[in-house]
Order: sequence, then structure tokens, then C-alpha cells
Amino acid sequence: MKRVMILAGTVAALMVGGQAAAADGKAVFDKTCKACHMAMKPKMGDKAAWAPLIAQGEAALVASVMKGKKPMPPKGGAANEADVKAAVEYIISQSK
Ligand code: HEC
Repeated sequence: MKRVMILAGTVAALMVGGQAAAADGKAVFDKTCKACHMAMKPKMGDKAAWAPLIAQGEAALVASVMKGKKPMPPKGGAANEADVKAAVEYIISQSK
């Protein structure tokens, strides 16, 4: 039953994403990361907060999210590394 619900959620996310590919960074962010990253630092779009993080490079940020950091759970709560990577790319694109 849980599997079915996860599948239904995935299909819904894909539909919301329109023509988007498997990992749509904005969709992952809106669903999984937004609650924290609109409320807590580093906040989405906060250029000053993200500049030193972006400077570490995307791969380092993806690795950090995969491990989890303080209140952030492993993978930031996302389903897999592809989703984490897409969401990190989306954050970077909106925060520099
Ligand atoms: C439970 C809240 C929470 C969720 C959910 C969450 N984050 Fe975070 N995230 C944080 C907090 C808090 C930090 C700052 C951690 C610190 O440096 O103390 C952080 C840090 C980061 C960083 C910087 C990592 C670093 O090395 O400093 C990135 C990138 C990031 N989050 C991306 C994401 C992405 C992408 C998602 C969704 C897939 C996500 N986060 C979900 C709370 C969250």
C-alpha cells in the first residue's frame, strides 16, 4: 500500500512538472526542501548565504546533502541522489 502511494505521489509530481524529466529540481525543492529552506538559513535566494556554499562547488553540496547536516536529514529527505542533485542545481540557479 505504501508503495502504491509513493508511486501515485511520483506520478503526481511528474504531472505537475509537465514535460519535465525524471528529476525536476524545482519540483523536488518545492516538495522536499522548501519548508526548511524558506524558513531557515541558508534560505533560498539568499545570495550572501549561498555564495560561500556555491563556491565549494555543486558536487560538494550534493555530497553534504546526501550525508545530511545538523537538522537536515540525509538526502534532505529526497528520494535519491538524482533528485538531490537536481534540487541543489535549482537552489544554485536561484541563489546566485
Ligand atoms: C529539516 C530541514 C531541512 C530540509 C528538509 C532540507 N534542508 Fe538543507 N539545510 C538545512 C539546514 C538547517 C542547513 C544548514 C546546516 C548547517 O550548516 O548547519 C542546510 C544546508 C543545506 C545545504 C548546504 C550544505 C553545506 O554543506 O553547507 C544545501 C546545499 C542544502 N541544505 C540543500 C537541501 C536540499 C537540496 C534539500 C531537499 C532535497 C534540503 N536541503 C532539505 C535544513 C534542511
